[in-house]
Amino acid sequence: MKVSIIGLGYVGITTAAGLSEIGHEVIGYDIDKDRVKLLQDGKSPIYEPGLDELLRKNISEKRLTFTTSPEKAITHGDIIFICTGTPSREDGSADLTQVEGAAKTVARYINGFKLIVEKSTVPVKTAQWIERTMKLYLKKHIDFEVASNPEFLKEGDAINDFLKPDRIVIGVNSKRAEKMLRRLYKPIRSPIVVTDINTAEIIKHASNAFLAMKISFINMISDLCEATGADIELVAKAMGMDKRIGKQFLRAGVGYGGSCFPKDVKALYWVGKQYGLNFELLKNVHEINESRIDVLMKHLKNALWNLKDKSIAIWGLSFKPNTDDIREAPSIKVIKRILREGGRVTLYDPKAMENMRKIFPEGEAVKYAKDKYEAVKDAEALVILTEWDEFKDADLDKVKNAMLTPIIVDGRNIYRPRKVKRLGFEYYPMGRPS
Ligand code: UDX
Repeated sequence: MKVSIIGLGYVGITTAAGLSEIGHEVIGYDIDKDRVKLLQDGKSPIYEPGLDELLRKNISEKRLTFTTSPEKAITHGDIIFICTGTPSREDGSADLTQVEGAAKTVARYINGFKLIVEKSTVPVKTAQWIERTMKLYLKKHIDFEVASNPEFLKEGDAINDFLKPDRIVIGVNSKRAEKMLRRLYKPIRSPIVVTDINTAEIIKHASNAFLAMKISFINMISDLCEATGADIELVAKAMGMDKRIGKQFLRAGVGYGGSCFPKDVKALYWVGKQYGLNFELLKNVHEINESRIDVLMKHLKNALWNLKDKSIAIWGLSFKPNTDDIREAPSIKVIKRILREGGRVTLYDPKAMENMRKIFPEGEAVKYAKDKYEAVKDAEALVILTEWDEFKDADLDKVKNAMLTPIIVDGRNIYRPRKVKRLGFEYYPMGRPS
């Protein structure tokens, strides 16, 4: 089938690569010339395992192209995916101007029947706004339909999530739209849930907010463990063995970040408010997540007393492993707090250092290390903020010998407390006896 993708961010690129991989003819469109140029050369502007290979393969097999021409993009696809950003406004509600812009672009260049599919995470009833915008801006009568097909991709594993999803959700108004989307996803073996459009929009928002809630719940219990000397890792393990609870998303630590959870929790809170509903639970989810930084900083200060002029190594800058994405990463907040208190940081991350340099340029108080061992040289504490495998497998003897004072503040609970203590470290995990 012929497919166009509007918006080549994380979701757009992965969707373009995935749909071309299963045999469709895909054109990706974005206004950002540099981004499109990179993609035309088969290079992804974001780091995602396996994505470059998939881009190159499908470009060379002529199923995938990228363009900055809206006309070329819109006239190509029978199905047009809107994958533009839906950032947070100042008050936390979703800013849908890019989605509106995409609808206007489709209205301007539409040349025959199109199924316009929203893939970005949007508040319920956004599809109705897309339809209204289309109708307002259409110059002549051309038939179109709007549908919702939310993405559930997680960064670092997005290709696998695309090709082997737990489920595909299709929100449609007609049999014709359902048939088109079923045909599109035919090569993918996965349960398909067909709903009306409002329901599909809510499924996506609710799924993300629920996962965020699970994380904040375990972090709340982590605080209780810390206050009483109990161990959150064992609490989470035993809770997770109950199949009704499930073991995933029960990892306590420095909290969730990324481009989805923080934004979606706030946006869904605002949706609830708009309908006069009590969605305070989501406010608490957000607040508990924010307070993770306070807990980590308390540990750091318990260990170092004062931070002024202290040299602190930080391992892990991305919001989670296997990505270079630092959006809403806890590392940004932690670094700011340390610098505000007069400390110095040496930063290391396997993938995210280039992105972080744009926020914290190298200088007197901020250094970047070429590897994890250089980062800890003469450090008075090591703070771990992302659970990359290379940190789990680090030679801790080497780390200890390089440090000035052997202190580890672990925001992701990656080590066994007894083992690190035996090696001679003072160890400060989250929600575990230290
Ligand atoms: C998420 C959803 O998983 C995905 O379905 C949706 O489409 C987009 O948002 P992503 O943001 O890529 O994906 O990452 P995810 O793996 O869900 O992790 C989000 C954050 O939660 C990370 O900062 C991670 O470190 C944190 N997290 C996750 C925890 O703190 N504890 C956990 O147990 C799990």
